[in-house]
Amino acid sequence: MVELTRSFELENKPVDEDHRGLIALVNDIIKVLDEGRPEECAQLVPDFVAFTKKHFQREEALLERYDYPQLAKHREHHRRLHDNLENLLKLAANVTESEPARQSLRKELVYFMMDDVINADLDFKPFLSEAATDDATE
Ligand SMILES: [Fe+2]
Ligand SMILES: [Fe+2]
Repeated sequence: MVELTRSFELENKPVDEDHRGLIALVNDIIKVLDEGRPEECAQLVPDFVAFTKKHFQREEALLERYDYPQLAKHREHHRRLHDNLENLLKLAANVTESEPARQSLRKELVYFMMDDVINADLDFKPFLSEAATDDATE
């Protein structure tokens, strides 16, 4: 089971809520794999992919609103992850037949979520906390 521990929180409510929602979906996927219901991945993995894409859009809109100076770089990072999302969909299409696909899906999904999605966002945590404080005092 994957958890959003305090060190991975951005202390920004909408972003943390999105991350929590994504992690909940990751845990649902791990659960159906563990419990021998891989066919449910046909619904859950596309849901995860769609939620991730929406999250990237929401996050970019927020950073844009605060004029984050490294926005172009972070946008490019998100764009590159679209290939990983395609790969997750491909794995999900094979999980009912293949144990290696089940193992890869689980591994790739956790790595993608914790490293590519959440850890990469810690780059703008200090910026966002300052920008939001300024916002509150205006
Ligand atoms: Fe994010
Ligand atoms: Fe991000």
